[in-house]
Amino acid sequence: MNALLPALLSRRSVGPRHLTGPDLTEGELLSLAEAAAAAPDHGMLGPLQLIHIPARHRGALAEVFAQAALEADPMADAAALQAARDRAMAGPALIAVLARLTPDHPVVPVEEQWVAVGAGLQNLLLAALSLGLDAKPLSGRRVKSQALRQAFRLPDTTHLVAFVALGRAVDDRRERPRRKPGDLMQSWSPVKEASARNIAALADKLKLDPAKALSCCGAAPAAATDCCGGSKVGTRHRKGRKLLLRRHPA
Ligand SMILES: Cc1cc2nc3c(=O)[nH]c(=O)nc-3n(C[C@H](O)[C@H](O)[C@H](O)COP(=O)(O)O)c2cc1C
Repeated sequence: MNALLPALLSRRSVGPRHLTGPDLTEGELLSLAEAAAAAPDHGMLGPLQLIHIPARHRGALAEVFAQAALEADPMADAAALQAARDRAMAGPALIAVLARLTPDHPVVPVEEQWVAVGAGLQNLLLAALSLGLDAKPLSGRRVKSQALRQAFRLPDTTHLVAFVALGRAVDDRRERPRRKPGDLMQSWSPVKEASARNIAALADKLKLDPAKALSCCGAAPAAATDCCGGSKVGTRHRKGRKLLLRRHPA
């Protein structure tokens, strides 16, 4: 096993108040961008855009954060506005993460573009780790505000996803619970004829789209009880075993 997996498993988000050190160097910023660019990106549409906010402009961004807070709550008091400003100033370095989407692309649906953005962000976080930096992505309501959209001159098809705070952790990274690998990774098995007929008949009775019911419960009836977490729409008993049908999540 090379060093990549243990490093990846050690990643934890570290919030800006637990980060110290200088702003990132040009070299560090380019390494992060290079790592982000190495993420899978169907059609090479480049939906991920990164914008570093230099230390000298953090004060100006703080004013935009205050405007965003006012937009969310026109009655916000001075303390709330100062808290909003402080959020723009916390952490040694700050990078805005944008998703520049291409709606109605003939080949690459917008969901895949979002996945590419997430993959690029994760590569950035892992590259930061390899450079000895810790980080935390933070969004909050402000990322949808007109104040920030205008400040970043965003066209309608571009979303401000989050700000990533980066720096050097002042204390040990906190442990976080992780999903059990065996729950996350499951094994597919083909639909058995009888099971498929059973599920199709039940779908018909419940007036469900059989294709959707099958795609969710495309497992043997015994396994259908713990399939993909859609909403439960019906059960029936078959040879003493409960068959549970779920509506495929939207
Ligand atoms: C795009 C994005 C936005 C996030 N925004 C916030 C946020 O606004 N506030 C917050 O507490 N955590 C936010 N998180 C979650 C944290 O960054 C972090 O992932 C979470 O605390 C779990 O820590 P971990 O990364 O060590 O698992 C965001 C994560 C992502 C990917």
